[in-house]
Amino acid sequence: MKIFVAKDYAEVSALAYGVIKDVVLQESSPVLGLATGSTPLGLYALMAEDCAKKNVSYKNTRTANLDEYVGLAPSHPQSYRYFMEHNLFEHIDLPKESAYLPNGSAQNLEEECRRYDALLEQMPRDVQLLGIGNNGHIAFNEPGTPFDCGTHIVRLDASTIEANARFFDSVNEVPRRAITMGIRGIMSAKKILLVATGTKKALAVARALQGEVDESCPASVLQRHQDVVVILDKDASAKLRF
Ligand code: F6R
Repeated sequence: MKIFVAKDYAEVSALAYGVIKDVVLQESSPVLGLATGSTPLGLYALMAEDCAKKNVSYKNTRTANLDEYVGLAPSHPQSYRYFMEHNLFEHIDLPKESAYLPNGSAQNLEEECRRYDALLEQMPRDVQLLGIGNNGHIAFNEPGTPFDCGTHIVRLDASTIEANARFFDSVNEVPRRAITMGIRGIMSAKKILLVATGTKKALAVARALQGEVDESCPASVLQRHQDVVVILDKDASAKLRF
């Protein structure tokens, strides 16, 4: 595991972009695992900027996102499909049909989980981008999720609902359930890129990287992956022992 501590959010985003750019330039048909949330916004802006300058093209790239809320239509401004369209896909030359997300509006959610797992098997990710929850979740794999689970429907932790309420008009509007790539799917990526910033993440980061590998901290499973790059700002690294 390689850990980088950057001086600020701009440097975190630039370092993360360096990892993504290397993969996209090296692979003939790159597959990127993508995440939503506040943390990757700077990275996505850099991807868009560099693509506009024609330094990088995503024409041969495919992407697979981690998760989606259950019950929010793709056109809902808080759906993760909408987030990805607005913050990344509209600004790069990725073909529309090459961007995959689990469908949280599927009639049969169990079937949708199986469909997404089959899709992930067909498109092993060259790199999987991850944020981390204050409670140590990765994607929406909340504490206690078995490490060997595939894509599944999850009831969100109270702390996750509270943390995500900032994007909604009120906490009551935050969906209670989500469909998420499982830890097995995440761990199957060739490389993992974990990005975290801010004091609120410091404890989860320390438990994930230097604590016991235990299902009570889902991100701790990353200690078992052979190629993990972690990019933190100073605040998020504050509880690590170097
Ligand atoms: C997003 C996701 C979540 C976030 C995590 C951190 O697709 O799966 O695990 O990465 O909740 O979110 P932010 O970046 O908003 O702090």
